[in-house]
Amino acid sequence: MCGIVGYIGNKDAPVICVEGLKRLEYRGYDSAGIAVVTSRGLDVRKVVGKLANLEALLKEQPLHGPVGIGHTRWATHGKPSVENSHPHISCAGDIAVVHNGIIENYADLRSRLQAEGHEFRSQTDTETIAHLVEKYYDGDLAAAVRRACADLEGSFALGVLHAKHPDILIGARRFSPLVIGIGEGENFIASDMGAVRKWTDRVYVIDDDEMGVLTTDGVDLMDLQGKPIERSVYVIPWPADAAEKGGHRHFMHKEIYEQPMAMRECLRGRLSDPDRPITLDGLNMTEEEIRNLRKVVLSACGTAYHAGLVGRYLIENFARVPAEADLAAELRARDPVVLDNTLAILVSQSGETADTLVALRELKEKGAKIVSVINVVDSSIARESDGVVYIQAGPEIGVASTKAYTLQVLTLQMIAAHFAEVRGVQSPQALREFKEGILCVPDQAAELLSREDAVREVAQAYYQFHNALYLGRGINLPSALEGALKLKEISYIHAEGYSAGEMKHGPIALVEPSLFTVAVAVQGSVYEKMIGNIQEIKAREGPVIGVATDGDDYIPGEADHVLWVPPCPELVSPATVQIPLQLFAYHVADLRGCPIDQPRNLAKTVTVE
Ligand code: M6R
Repeated sequence: MCGIVGYIGNKDAPVICVEGLKRLEYRGYDSAGIAVVTSRGLDVRKVVGKLANLEALLKEQPLHGPVGIGHTRWATHGKPSVENSHPHISCAGDIAVVHNGIIENYADLRSRLQAEGHEFRSQTDTETIAHLVEKYYDGDLAAAVRRACADLEGSFALGVLHAKHPDILIGARRFSPLVIGIGEGENFIASDMGAVRKWTDRVYVIDDDEMGVLTTDGVDLMDLQGKPIERSVYVIPWPADAAEKGGHRHFMHKEIYEQPMAMRECLRGRLSDPDRPITLDGLNMTEEEIRNLRKVVLSACGTAYHAGLVGRYLIENFARVPAEADLAAELRARDPVVLDNTLAILVSQSGETADTLVALRELKEKGAKIVSVINVVDSSIARESDGVVYIQAGPEIGVASTKAYTLQVLTLQMIAAHFAEVRGVQSPQALREFKEGILCVPDQAAELLSREDAVREVAQAYYQFHNALYLGRGINLPSALEGALKLKEISYIHAEGYSAGEMKHGPIALVEPSLFTVAVAVQGSVYEKMIGNIQEIKAREGPVIGVATDGDDYIPGEADHVLWVPPCPELVSPATVQIPLQLFAYHVADLRGCPIDQPRNLAKTVTVE
């Protein structure tokens, strides 16, 4: 969850670290810190709160040096405070460590180290690492880091500096992401590629139980036993400014606007003509495997889970394979039964979500074939899967997931259509209509963005409410769940997403003039039922925003406000319906003055269970 950046070269390390951390602040923003090696030894600055506070401190108390490590924190062990923020320092003050992950045996290690005379200054698990490196250091820093790592249980991506080795920066990893950026006369470590893309497009993606020893002129890669390893260079495919706001006030807004282009990219080379078969590079399933499928289990967290629910509907309804979707955090608890010929589809933007990774391992161990739908290339989930279909959304920085969701939906639509095609379970006409509908999504998304002003007007009418209900049915139940999640996470308005069919079984008790309902009532098989729900809410004086298909002349007479979407086949609609709901949540949060890209208590990537 935390972000780490390290630099060694001829530039000023604090400047690079702060710049890099700005691109990682989505990983956590409880506190931040930097350490550099100077001619006088280690120098450290740490603050509570966002990176802006660290920048302010660096103005008052400047820090300079050609090698440094920086950190932005999302607290796990120990509350946000200067003592608990990283970098953590050894007793002698010459070793500095930044860490992302959780050291599960830290309490045990801490008591052992204390018994040996090490003095701790924080409540964190990370500080044990600085003391362990100190304990094992005998002149060889890389060897000391390796020995320290051998004692650690849990997950880590580390950056380590030593005052006596101003020409070395060390990065190491187990279960938490780490890349090494390769520059000219300079090298970097970072939690993700976005943090170094400004300076280089060439990275080594570090694997579990591997480390890198960086100098100004090169990088030595080895495993945690010290055995050298070979790794090919990964060239980052997106431009340096992809992780910038590009004129938008917030990353979330920029990412909402990137959807049409990203959707075209996602379809490219896979589906271009409704009369030709879909080709899914990376799926890695034979036609025989697809025909023999007995069950599909989808699993994910948060927004990705909502995309998984759309996938479940499509795979069962259109590809005619029994399908279920599970919250990743719940999957292992019920010890799932995995039948022969079961496919597990894990959905994740980051590819690093701990619960999703645990679910993957559980399903794999039980014999399921694993395919993942991922954005971040070469991420942990991608690497542990038998097949990966990348959504190709480019970097998503806003904590609230937007473009990743619609692209996950689009990708799952292609997977379902491909399965249906191979299994021969749909008529050529039904297949053609579905594929034509999918192909229209990017243009419809662009059309929906052109209606932003109308969405903001609706947001004006509701931004002061405290409670909201989002209702949907069938394939658009996930649209309601996702709409509610988006609103609550960035505007802090209490929002419940519910099946409209469940309304009379409880939630209707909440309906009154101070609670507004968003009802997803686009044309399709559940339209009439949704109209019934809207009428029931209006009869109880609840304000209603209807999400309706262009040309619908009934809903404007029933609902107080309407968010319009262009007509499309029902199975395709979740990819477009979400866009006005994203814009609505964005404008409500903006009107309420909320920190849209960094909602309180949240982090973009949840790498702890
Ligand atoms: O990186 P992942 O897609 O695995 O992340 C899953 C959730 O943590 C994520 O979707 C979260 O719910 C977002 N904040 C939603 O906007």
